[in-house]
Amino acid sequence: MIATGLKFIHIAAIAIWSAGLICLPFVYQQRGDIKTENDLHRMHAMVRFFYVVIVSPAAFIAIGSGTALIFVQQTFDAWFSVKLAFVGAMVVIHVISGLVILKVFEVSGRYPGWRYVAVTVITTLIVTAILVVVSGKPEIDPHAFWADLFTPGRLGELLQPHLEPFIFWARP
Ligand code: HEM
Repeated sequence: MIATGLKFIHIAAIAIWSAGLICLPFVYQQRGDIKTENDLHRMHAMVRFFYVVIVSPAAFIAIGSGTALIFVQQTFDAWFSVKLAFVGAMVVIHVISGLVILKVFEVSGRYPGWRYVAVTVITTLIVTAILVVVSGKPEIDPHAFWADLFTPGRLGELLQPHLEPFIFWARP
């Protein structure tokens, strides 16, 4: 029952978050058609409202409900790591989208058509990839492509050359 409720919230929030990220570049692109300062301010206020009051809270709810689902469903499979890598890409797009709002509504602001097409295509591909991974839950054997990654102590060995300067600095 808890899992069903959480999944309902998760999927509803994801639908809003994904749709918001996919359609925001289209809205940014409309900025080029704006002629008067009054219209510019109205559109700026509308886009900020959409980003701050609708899309960002949906992202928080999606991530929060997803995190709760990890514990309820015991999702500790390799496909889930692949999903989270794609979710990371969505978060990067979300943050960049917020930074675009700060720039595109300046008086000299523009949002080129190629960028609108590129961001829409990339975001759609990432969301589709997540849905494919989550629906298919493919069996992925990490040992098949990196055999010793999960042996105890291996992560420390891999990171040691990069962390050595900091460890040395922190030693008494
Ligand atoms: C940090 C973000 C996220 C976390 C921690 C998370 C976590 C989870 C977990 C633990 C489940 C249950 C998996 C299971 O059945 O064992 C789940 C289900 C699901 N997630 Fe996410 N998720 C996140 C973001 C997303 C995003 C961005 C999407 C889509 C764009 C997504 C789509 C789905 C779907 C469709 C399900 C239902 C899968 C099913 O019942 O078969 N999730 N999520």
